[in-house]
Amino acid sequence: MSTKVAIVGASGNVGPAVLEQLLVAGFDVTVLTRSDSDKKFDSRAQIAKVDYESFDSLKDALANQDVVVSTLNVGAVPLAIHSRIIDAAAATGVKRFIPSEYGCDTTNAQAAKLPVFGDKVKVQEHLKNTSQTSGLSYSLLITGPFLDWGIEKGFILDTSGPVVTLYDGGEQRFSTTTLNGVGKGVVGIINNLDSTKNIPVYVEEARVSQKDLLRLSGSKIDTQIVQTVDLEKGAFEELGKPSPNPAVFATKFILRSIFGEGFGSLFDPKKLSNDLFGLKPLSEEELRGLFAN
Ligand SMILES: NC(=O)c1ccc[n+]([C@@H]2O[C@H](COP(=O)([O-])OP(=O)(O)OC[C@H]3O[C@@H](n4cnc5c(N)ncnc54)[C@H](OP(=O)(O)O)[C@@H]3O)[C@@H](O)[C@H]2O)c1
Repeated sequence: MSTKVAIVGASGNVGPAVLEQLLVAGFDVTVLTRSDSDKKFDSRAQIAKVDYESFDSLKDALANQDVVVSTLNVGAVPLAIHSRIIDAAAATGVKRFIPSEYGCDTTNAQAAKLPVFGDKVKVQEHLKNTSQTSGLSYSLLITGPFLDWGIEKGFILDTSGPVVTLYDGGEQRFSTTTLNGVGKGVVGIINNLDSTKNIPVYVEEARVSQKDLLRLSGSKIDTQIVQTVDLEKGAFEELGKPSPNPAVFATKFILRSIFGEGFGSLFDPKKLSNDLFGLKPLSEEELRGLFAN
């Protein structure tokens, strides 16, 4: 009998890639989506329309599931909803919960202090507490910034001109993973439940700097340097306003944690689960190909 996996929020930036990899891996997949959402999903998955405000609605949707994978937005989706999904998973006997992480190492003490990761840290605490009083365990999938998505959106390198911004000089290397790589990381956890129990799990497909990416892009445009310490300062200033704009402060904090010193953005090779999961680094040619479109 194949493992029953519920994915919550499968329609956003990272959700579709995770859903695809879960289906490719042959799991019995159910997508949880808001009852008023009109999103369409792969017909191989079952769909459960839920009311995230209702514990009973979530319990019904998660009954008999082995694993719950959250790809919900963190920040826009209130913390109470993330906690309620965890509680419903514990109440129905789900074995493993994979919360919506997929980015910076929020277990790094310096990163964990950044307000943008506050809800992720609170979800981790809730999972730790729940795991001590129920059969629910958890795995935190840490992937670094999304490489293909980050290039497409101009988030980790924006070569659309007239100048490209290099953070702190652009030489700091960081671990990064494509959307499909994130999906493979989730599958790897589900296929290795014992060795990934109640820990952060690190995967990467490249260890690159912005200068490496600029060279791979072939772009010859001018560069400017922005210091991430100033971004952090600007993020706190934005937070201090009466109506802070999350798009402004969240972006600045996240750039600080990817490119600044001390945030753990280049993963310790000894901690990587790549070999266990069969996830290979991208070749130079594959990296160049990310800039082809
Ligand atoms: N490392 C990176 O570079 C990177 C980049 C982006 C995101 N991330 C991480 O990936 C995770 C998912 O982020 P995302 O950008 O993929 O999320 P997203 O696209 O903003 O949202 C994901 C899904 O959540 C559901 N949703 C949205 N608002 C909701 C609400 N108010 N109540 C209930 N459900 C709601 C929607 O599904 P339905 O409409 O089907 O209900 C939506 O498709 C986060 O942890 C984020 O930090 C990492």
